This record gives sequence, C-alpha cells and structure tokens, in this order.
Amino acid sequence: MAPRVLACTVCHGKEGRSTPDGYFPRIAGKPAGYLANQLLNFRDGRRSYPQMTYLIEHLTDDYLREMAAYFAALDLPYPPPARLDVSAAQIERGRALVHQGDPSRQLPACVQCHGGSMTGVAPSIPGLLGLPRDYLNSQLGAWATGQRRAHAPDCMADIARRMTAEDVSAVSAWLASQPVPGRGHPATHLPAPLPLRCGGVDDVRIAPGGRS
Ligand code: HEC
Ligand code: HEC
Repeated sequence: MAPRVLACTVCHGKEGRSTPDGYFPRIAGKPAGYLANQLLNFRDGRRSYPQMTYLIEHLTDDYLREMAAYFAALDLPYPPPARLDVSAAQIERGRALVHQGDPSRQLPACVQCHGGSMTGVAPSIPGLLGLPRDYLNSQLGAWATGQRRAHAPDCMADIARRMTAEDVSAVSAWLASQPVPGRGHPATHLPAPLPLRCGGVDDVRIAPGGRS
C-alpha cells in the first residue's frame, strides 16, 4: 500500500503525519472506521475537496477501506502543538466547553463522544488533538452550513449549529494548543452511551455497566 498512497502524502505529509501548523489534517493513526467513513464521504459528495476527491472517485468501497486500514495502523509520534496567540480567557472557555459542554444550550461535552483524553474512540470516532486550528474551525463551520455531512443522524451538524462563532474559536484554540498524549491511540470504549445518536458509529463499544 505504501507506494500506492504516495499521492496522498503530497498534502497529508510523509506517512500521513501532517503537522499542526498547516491546514491538512493528519490521517496516520486515526481510527480505521472513521477514515473509511471519510473516504466514502469524499467519494460520495458528503465532503468536498476536489483536488483530493479526483484521486478516489473511482475506487471501490473495499479499496477505500484498505487504504483507511493502512493509515490507521501507522503508529507514529506527534509533533508538539503549534504556538497560538490566544488569550487565557479564550483557552479557558475552550477547555470548559470540551469537558463540560453547556447544558443550558443542550451542548454536550466533546469528551462524551471523543473520549476522556480526546484521542477518539475505536473504530469510528476521531480524536481532535494534533489537528491544525484552521482545519478545526473550518470543519465546524462546514457542518453548520451543511457543506460537510456525516451519515445520518448527523450529530455533529446538530452540535456545530448549537455553537456560536466564539465557542468554535475557543474550542479550536484549546484543542490545537494541547500536546497529544502518547501516540494518540484512540480509546477502546466509552464509559457511557453517546449523549446524541450519531450515524456510522454503531460499532463503538460502551464499557460494561455503562449502558443505561
Ligand atoms: C491536494 C491535496 C490532497 C491530496 C492529494 C489528498 N488529500 Fe486528503 N485531504 C485534503 C484536505 C485539504 C482535507 C480536508 C478537507 C476539508 O476541509 O474537509 C483532506 C481530508 C482527508 C481525510 C479526512 C481526515 C479527517 O480527519 O477527517 C482523509 C481520510 C484523507 N484526506 C485521506 C486522503 C487519502 C487516502 C489520499 C490519497 C488517496 C488523500 N487524502 C489525498 C487534501 C488532500
Ligand atoms: C454525540 C457525540 C459527539 C459529541 C458530543 C461531539 N462529537 Fe464531534 N464527532 C462525533 C462523530 C461521530 C464524529 C465523526 C463524524 C463523521 O464520521 O464524519 C465527529 C467528528 C468531529 C470532528 C471532525 C474531526 C476531523 O478530523 O475532521 C470535529 C472537528 C468534531 N467532531 C468536533 C467536536 C467538538 C468541538 C465537540 C464538542 C463541542 C464535539 N465534536 C462533540 C461525535 C460527537
């Protein structure tokens, strides 16, 4: 697979390990089911980036899953986070939203689905650390406007629409300024069921006793 995915590394960096200070998201070491869902999303028009989509538009589901499995299995270190010029108040607002959400606005905490250490949950929920701030802002913006879609029910669209521009900016600043613990391995299960239903993640496991 390595020679076949060389075209991908032009943008996603050597072995798909892009750095936090550009725009291209890292793909190395992300959960396999998540990566496969995204390749299908690009191929089938639920996400758009024409310079990338043309490379995969004729590939089969099986081939896209193989590519996803290849990148998911790469176990590579992360660089330190980018230095950001943001206020302490903004960072604190971001930290609070990630860990507590805002119940008064039915905004769940990000950790409830993305995992306690925000490194994602195998096999289909991505971690949110080690990503460029511009990329995070753009994804949340794209969900709010319907330019990025996931399998229905699209929980992230609901969440992005409940966030203000200030929320998005604060959360992205906090996420992009955190070091990635270890090699960013996704958790194997969540402690409790997801607070909203999300399409494409039926395979995520809930800890014994966590199912209410
Ligand atoms: C021309 C540059 C470019 C090339 C080449 C490219 N990508 Fe991408 N890729 C991007 C950009 C930009 C995004 C984010 C697009 C967006 O804003 O949603 C992306 C997103 C992704 C994502 C989603 C990541 C996430 O965290 O959701 C995956 C998976 C991915 N690319 C895999 C690949 C694979 C596999 C190849 C090779 C077949 C490839 N890309 C080639 C630019 C590229
Ligand atoms: C109810 C569960 C749930 C909650 C709560 C949640 N997410 Fe997500 N998130 C998901 C799922 C599922 C995906 C994968 C969607 C897909 O397959 O495209 C995702 C994907 C994302 C992505 C895309 C990552 C990438 O690499 O492109 C971002 C950004 C994101 N979430 C941000 C957030 C933020 C910020 C919060 C907290 C305010 C949050 N999420 C809360 C379930 C959730």
